[in-house]
Amino acid sequence: MSLLKPFSVFLAIFLIFLFNVALSEQQIVRDSAKGVSYANFVRHKNRRLNTEQLESLTVQQHAECGEKCLLNNKCTSMNYGGAGEHECQLLAANKFDSPEAMMIDESFEHFSVASPCDKKLCLKGGKCLPIYEQNSYRCQYPCKFNIWKNCERGRTLPSADGDWTAFWWYDTNTTWPSPETDVLAYNFGHCRSSDPYCFGRLPSDAIEDSTEMLAVDSEGTKYKWSFNSGNSVAHAAWRAFHDHQVIGNGDVLNAAPGWDPVVLNGSAPKGVQDSFMYREQYGVKSVLLDDDNCDCKSSLSLGHGMCNSGHNPAYGPAYQYGVDTLYDAGCSGPQPGIGLTLYVRAKP
Ligand SMILES: *[C@@H]1O[C@H](CO)[C@@H](O)[C@H](O)[C@H]1NC(C)=O
Ligand SMILES: *[C@@H]1O[C@H](CO)[C@@H](O)[C@H](O)[C@H]1NC(C)=O
Repeated sequence: MSLLKPFSVFLAIFLIFLFNVALSEQQIVRDSAKGVSYANFVRHKNRRLNTEQLESLTVQQHAECGEKCLLNNKCTSMNYGGAGEHECQLLAANKFDSPEAMMIDESFEHFSVASPCDKKLCLKGGKCLPIYEQNSYRCQYPCKFNIWKNCERGRTLPSADGDWTAFWWYDTNTTWPSPETDVLAYNFGHCRSSDPYCFGRLPSDAIEDSTEMLAVDSEGTKYKWSFNSGNSVAHAAWRAFHDHQVIGNGDVLNAAPGWDPVVLNGSAPKGVQDSFMYREQYGVKSVLLDDDNCDCKSSLSLGHGMCNSGHNPAYGPAYQYGVDTLYDAGCSGPQPGIGLTLYVRAKP
């Protein structure tokens, strides 16, 4: 055994191999076949990692505790000290995967195998997990879809409602963002959950026949749809929400049997939802799911009101943008003061 640095530990039987080891970038090498083991530890005074111990031993000095750690393949960190001053606790966990377990304890020192993670390499919210054997690391993020900005989880529903993630929303009383010209402009994950609106599409890796959509409006009405490649209305909605394809006036009109939502709260739409459009009206590509390609008995009406190839002012003034309620009690188009959120999940 030779101790070359205060916080490094070597165990070498054949010294010739020591050169190979010393030349590599590795912070830890356990090679019993070559008879060489080596580790570089980072020291934290007055700290103890309060996790399950692989072993608790009595040793003479911290370097000996490091040797014991090297000899146990599961050990990635250790606490040394204690009331008797020579206790060596070998741990499988480390300060990177269990940061919440790091305690102030003046009787201990904590040692962890050096890692690129000591440089805090992951973005905000990400946990850096060492891959000691390769002197490498990976970032673990709390969210399921890592493509959200800053790896945010995004907006979700309380888990009692299932694992729904919002992909589109327009908060109540939002004023229409004038630069926007497309209610499905953005890839899934583009928005931050604090944004007042999100004109996002379905996740690109969603699978048509395994995907459900939930809509909740500011009146508390809640509708759920299942995408279905064999239903022409559902498939048109999929092409718009997932593939960003335009669906023109008359393309999907009175297409039996329609695509009625399951009503989870509130009233059912006033007509069979058998017609779908996603096309530009007064400068904004808008969505309409209703009974006849013309505002009124609609469920989804996003952007500008639409009627056939134009707009009918009977259902709301021209150049009024926003969302309509899911249950269209008053035969209106998108109007101010209404909020709507669309969620997605894989069928459970
Ligand atoms: C929307 O605005 C109206 C009128 O100002 C107000 O009464 C209502 O509380 C607002 N709703 C929300 C959710 O902010
Ligand atoms: C259900 O919808 C009604 C309006 O139809 C609303 O008043 C009520 O708050 C909603 N309930 C829930 C739990 O959202």
